[in-house]
Parts: sequence; structure tokens; C-alpha cells
Amino acid sequence: MSQITPAQQLFDLTGQVALVTGASSGLGRRFAQVLAAQGAKVVAAARRSDRLQDLAATSPNIVPLAMDVTDTAAQAGALDAAERGFGPLTLLVNNAGIGGGGRIVDTPEAEWERVMRTNVDSIWHLSRAFAQRLIARERSGAIINIASLVAHRVGMSSASYAISKAAVLHMTRAQAFEWARHGIRVNAICPGYISSEMTDDYLASPAGQEMIRRVPQRRSGQPSDLDGTLLLLASSRASGFMTGAEINVDGGHALA
Ligand SMILES: NC(=O)c1ccc[n+]([C@@H]2O[C@H](COP(=O)([O-])OP(=O)(O)OC[C@H]3O[C@@H](n4cnc5c(N)ncnc54)[C@H](OP(=O)(O)O)[C@@H]3O)[C@@H](O)[C@H]2O)c1
Repeated sequence: MSQITPAQQLFDLTGQVALVTGASSGLGRRFAQVLAAQGAKVVAAARRSDRLQDLAATSPNIVPLAMDVTDTAAQAGALDAAERGFGPLTLLVNNAGIGGGGRIVDTPEAEWERVMRTNVDSIWHLSRAFAQRLIARERSGAIINIASLVAHRVGMSSASYAISKAAVLHMTRAQAFEWARHGIRVNAICPGYISSEMTDDYLASPAGQEMIRRVPQRRSGQPSDLDGTLLLLASSRASGFMTGAEINVDGGHALA
């Protein structure tokens, strides 16, 4: 029988170098801090550099990286810059994302393109570049894609956003399938409604309060509700046999 690994060691990320996109606020900021607290070196990326500087000041394990994930031509350079911070990347958290407008018939062309470029295309390009590096170096690694509860359900948010998150889930499966042989695990988290800049106004509104009453746990989440799932998927000791999985963290909302 193999030995039991103490929980502290199971989630120890010492030696890992992570790139977290969308780290200037909300979930991404929390993800960067949680990974850094478990010993990972973290490159925190987003467009608002001032926010990233503040975040980096909270931990010697975090460095900021100004990056627009929609600028695909600049992504190879951004990965080079990320690796100048702490060395070769081993973990990628594709978290940057934006919400969408309203009904399909009212959604301007530019809005659709903005949502797809930010939420889908960026993950395609960044994950591909990250995997190419790992494969060339014959190193293992992990990708965590942030999808959403609405990847499975329409009518809860804008159609463009829901469609983009469904694409993130299918991309997760395709990436996991193709890269498993290279030791790259790819999994997704599907959060329900979590307090952040993206959702706070809605959650405080009458419609948001009504929605919360339909969540089986009768509450929205906090970014800290995702800590355990993030660490599970980030640690190859904890989830080395998991790839292509999607984990709901939603207070039971998907059941309602
Ligand atoms: N909160 C929820 O209830 C919830 C539920 C399910 C899924 N999610 C997903 O979780 C992720 C984080 O959302 P959040 O709730 O934390 O929202 P948030 O507070 O608005 O954060 C979004 C982050 O994405 C970054 N971002 C947006 N466009 C970018 C771009 N072009 N280039 C680089 N970074 C960009 C923003 O940084 P800059 O503006 O500084 O670039 C920001 O750091 C998103 O993918 C979202 O869809 C959230």
C-alpha cells in the first residue's frame, strides 16, 4: 500500500510557476494569492497594471505582467516576459473574461466578437503557446480553464457569454485529450454566481436577489469558495489522474 501524503504536502505548489490571467480583480486576484500562499511563483496578468502592482505588493511570490489577452500577436512575447519573472511556466489559469450584452437579436456584431475574442480565442492561443513550450521542454504541467455554470444553461445570462463558456468547456476536453500524452492536464471550473466586479451590481439588484433565492444553498459565492477546487486541480499530487474534468462550484445552482 502506498503511503498517505499529509494534506499540507498534497497541495504544496513549491517549484510551480503559474500564469494567472485576469488577476487584477475578482476571482483571478484571489487565484494568484491562493497559489502564491501554497508556494507557487505567480505571474499575475491583466491590463490594469496599477491593480497588479498592488497585488504583487502582497506577496514576494507574485510579479505583475501587463497583458491584453485579446492581443494574440503579442502572446508569445508575453509568455517570454512571464518566464523572465520566475522561469519556465508549469501552470496556466485561463481566468480573464468579460460578460456580454443581451438578447441575440440585439447584440451588436462588435459585442459578439469582443466576447469571443476575450473568453474563447485567448484561451485557444495562450494554451496552445503554453503547451508548445512544455512539449518542447518535455515537461509536465496543468491548465485550469474558468468556464461557468451558464456553459450548461441558456437564459441565465447573455447568449454570447453562455456560448463562449460552453466553448471553453469543449476546448478543455479537446486540450485534455490531445495533451494527456504529454503530461499536461487540463481541467475546468464552472463557478456559479460569485461576488466580483462582474456580478456585484446584478447580485444586489432585485433580479439578483430573486435568483439567489433559487440557489439551493440560498446564497451567492465568494472568491474564497473556489480556493479548494483551484488547489485540487493545480496540484499534480492531488489530482494527477484528473484531466478533462469540469467541477461545478455553485451552491447547487446547476441542480435548480
Ligand atoms: N463572478 C462570477 O459569478 C463568475 C461566474 C462564472 C464564471 N466567472 C468567470 O470568472 C472569470 C473572472 O471573472 P470575475 O467575476 O472575477 O470578473 P472581474 O472581476 O470583472 O475580473 C475579470 C478579469 O478579467 C480581466 N480581463 C478582461 N478582459 C481582459 C483582456 N482583454 N486582457 C486581459 N485581462 C482581461 C480583467 O482585468 P483588466 O480589466 O485589468 O484587464 C479582470 O482582471 C471570468 O472568466 C468570468 O467569466 C465568473
